[in-house]
Amino acid sequence: MMKKILTTCLLAASLSATAQTHVLDINTKKLGAPVQPTMYGIFFEDINYAADGGLYAEMVKNRSFEFPQHLMGWRAFGQFDVKDDGPFERNPHYVRLKYAGHNDKFTGLENEGFFGIAVKKDATYRFSVWARCPEGGKSTLEVSFVDNDTMGEDQRFATVNVEVSGKEWKKYTATLKSPVTEAKGALRIFLMGDKATTDVEHISLFPTDTWKGRENGMRKDLAQALFDMHPGVFRFPGGCIVEGTDLESRYQWKNSVGPVENRPLNENRWHYTFGHRFYPDYFQSYGLGFFEFFQLCEDFGCEALPVISCGLSCQFQNPDPTKPGVHVALDDLDSYIQDALDLVEFANGPVDSKWGKVRAEMGHPEPFNLKYLGVGNEQWDYDEAHGGFGPVFTERLKKFSAALRAKYPSLKLIGTTGPNSEGWDFDLLQPRMKELKVDLYDEHYYRNEKWFLSHGLRYDTYDRKGPRVFAGEYACHGADGKKWNHFETSLYEAAHMTGIERNADIVHMATYAPLFAHVEGWQWRPDAIWFDNLRSFKSVSYYVQQLFAMNKGTNVLSLTMDKKPVAGQDGQDGLFASAVFDKQTGEVIVKVVNTSAQTQPLSIQLQGMKGTRTAQIITLTHNGMDDENTLDDPEKIIPVEGTCQVDAGKGASLLLDDIPAKTFRIYKIKK
Ligand code: AHR
Repeated sequence: MMKKILTTCLLAASLSATAQTHVLDINTKKLGAPVQPTMYGIFFEDINYAADGGLYAEMVKNRSFEFPQHLMGWRAFGQFDVKDDGPFERNPHYVRLKYAGHNDKFTGLENEGFFGIAVKKDATYRFSVWARCPEGGKSTLEVSFVDNDTMGEDQRFATVNVEVSGKEWKKYTATLKSPVTEAKGALRIFLMGDKATTDVEHISLFPTDTWKGRENGMRKDLAQALFDMHPGVFRFPGGCIVEGTDLESRYQWKNSVGPVENRPLNENRWHYTFGHRFYPDYFQSYGLGFFEFFQLCEDFGCEALPVISCGLSCQFQNPDPTKPGVHVALDDLDSYIQDALDLVEFANGPVDSKWGKVRAEMGHPEPFNLKYLGVGNEQWDYDEAHGGFGPVFTERLKKFSAALRAKYPSLKLIGTTGPNSEGWDFDLLQPRMKELKVDLYDEHYYRNEKWFLSHGLRYDTYDRKGPRVFAGEYACHGADGKKWNHFETSLYEAAHMTGIERNADIVHMATYAPLFAHVEGWQWRPDAIWFDNLRSFKSVSYYVQQLFAMNKGTNVLSLTMDKKPVAGQDGQDGLFASAVFDKQTGEVIVKVVNTSAQTQPLSIQLQGMKGTRTAQIITLTHNGMDDENTLDDPEKIIPVEGTCQVDAGKGASLLLDDIPAKTFRIYKIKK
């Protein structure tokens, strides 16, 4: 979404007369380092109901009755039993519905969905259930959307009947069309007809209008929002959920592929990680699994970057790595390493290989062309002053690396420098990543405004001979947790990203985090995209990411002020800037972030260009620093397009502008 309004960058003469003009020198003659196509991407983790209850369009919670309390999310009534010898080995539970003893009594089930079953007027929904009549005979399942309208005549506002017969398990499907929009409905099933005893399993409901119309599909608006970010890389499935609270609960990609009915449930650590944001009904169905992740990468035209467990469960939650059961002993790592090797085979292997065959059977015989693999999420080693447990991460990484390099020499391996972007653990790991010759390492930083404003030169000093950097998780968190997706924090992310861009020779990927949050079920904020069951909106941080991704160009251009990089340094009045050239469009693209509280006059000197032309400008600004987008006002802050005159200066084209206080502006000038 971009408003086209006529903003111009003509000088506000009164202000520029008083403030000092900042001269930005851009050398358009010499192309610098390539900006990697992977530079700006997305990082997906099932946190804040990002997958189940979010992007994954399944509307039924606990569809396979595998939550530890088997009827969580359900209201069962009449005569019923929960049984555990169902048709799906890894999800054995199901519900047996029986005649309630009198024709006027009802037996059945009602599902509450994720924060309600929400349906839209005139939209259609695909209901499905695996069912049988174990004692023979037949029954009718009356399937309805019901509402909470206490004054309504009939709670049911859409109904379809599903006839069940036979002793064999079969999948039954039916379509419901909703005549109304309802945000907090439920899905109700009555046992009707002959009321023969009926077993039901894997009860599912999807909108028919999913992303690309897929049956096991994604919510269209949310997938579209990802597509619109123009991601170059897609990191999945986490985050901390890769590691698990213990080894048992780590993300196991093999459990996330094959028929959805048989993908076993996993715990989701975000259900309990924060006691003050507790969600006991938050689990991972794995309905959005590795096949679907790879498929999304293909849809988005970006590189896939899966991350796998390195055999260390979450080190925050398990500070003593020698405790039995929480970390795999070095000698027992083989099955973990095999999982990594098999993953590459699943993604790229021929259809007659064991895992390539699984991919083909899921409908994708062509390889996914996986090029990157992350080993471990936020792992670290210990020195004597900090636990003294030694190189627990790097010794495991070495083993993974040896096996993966031997079998897949062109695969790019991604290590990690742990959860901190500086400090003893970072200082310990960064040189080790170089020693181990990983291709990239993953850095994380959730930091406050001050950090973002004072680290503009972070990457300018990095060792150019070391591995490349993947800024895999970062976001500006307002001091004291009082700001999340407010304009100010997003502006400072834009400022920081100019430093990422200027250092594109060393930083090859950057992904903001987290990506999604359900407004009724979040555990962590800020987040790029927020949603409820019917609507979604993009935060200002989303627009910052999108603007960088859509204007990343192909090569860095040198941009200096008084011969120094523009990175909020002393004397630079809170300005941050970077420039790129785009070989495809022939444009010079300049990004300037004014983090100061004053308008700053700019004189942008385009060395190597002559003559006048009209430049396009894109501005992201605010009416108040605490402005934020919301479900009710989703476009309060969006990028605005305009134009700007470029003059024929002395020996270089010249663009003069007064960039307003606290503003991110992009200038696009055809060379
Ligand atoms: O993005 C939320 C969490 O932050 C991730 O799971 C983890 O990697 C980091 O600590």
